[in-house]
Amino acid sequence: MILIDGKKIAQEIKLEIAEKVRNINAQGGKIPHLAAILVGHDGGSETYVAFKIKDCEEVGFKSSLHRFEDQVTEDELLDRVKQLNNDDDVDGFIVQLPLPKHISEQKVIEAIDPQKDVDGFHPVNVGRMVIGLPSFVSATPDGIVELLTRYGIETSGKNCVVLGRSNIVGRPMSILMSQKAMNTTVTVAHSRTKNLKEVCASADILIAAIGSPEFVKGDMVKEGAVVIDVGTTRVPATDTKSGFRLKGDVCFDEVAPKCSYITPVPGGVGPMTRVALLKNTLLAASKQI
Ligand code: GUN
Repeated sequence: MILIDGKKIAQEIKLEIAEKVRNINAQGGKIPHLAAILVGHDGGSETYVAFKIKDCEEVGFKSSLHRFEDQVTEDELLDRVKQLNNDDDVDGFIVQLPLPKHISEQKVIEAIDPQKDVDGFHPVNVGRMVIGLPSFVSATPDGIVELLTRYGIETSGKNCVVLGRSNIVGRPMSILMSQKAMNTTVTVAHSRTKNLKEVCASADILIAAIGSPEFVKGDMVKEGAVVIDVGTTRVPATDTKSGFRLKGDVCFDEVAPKCSYITPVPGGVGPMTRVALLKNTLLAASKQI
């Protein structure tokens, strides 16, 4: 069993990006600038945005944080989106989700200029990705493709089961895995799937993105499978500084012994998701999309 070290690969990619930023700088070019909109004080969102800003600093990007309280109106938020769309210094930006219930996430996402949509959530980017045109691909699926590729994992002709159909992970993941670059035969499994255990056990590559801690048990995994664990549920813990611990969607102790490759949580997919946003920001700054 090989433990896929997302942290190490992400660090390698960060060094590659930092090198590119140094080259841009040396040639007198514009330093890529990522902006983030954060609404409210949700612990998870605060942490994710803080990481995104720290990542920017590490590779030499400029970053800016646009904070709003939970009571912000949809119009105020849409105004800021428009402002960022029109700000030539901002190459790309994200609106951290979830948003408060009185704001339509879809409306906000669709207000983002697709050329600055480094999360790849705008329907234009999703559509372009589906038909294989240059686009911003959402960060987690992109990070997973990068992990499979950098580990040299054979995907062509394999059966891939994607567990979960969210717009952010499961659905785009299923499309990418069916495209020519990966060439897998894809099954999308979800809460209404019958014989879920058997479906999962048919996977050569199982991508668990269901958001339910330790959902995938040992008897749901084929001997020799590649298992990618996207889960990052925070569960209370007494022995950590933060008071919580991240749990994956895979029961690691039961599943790992059966795998050829498996990603740990933390340190697997998470760091790759963060680095994918940096890749998209660099791409946005290059104005190639
Ligand atoms: N919330 C959970 N994941 C994401 C993400 O990738 N981007 C944004 N903007 N919000 C999120």
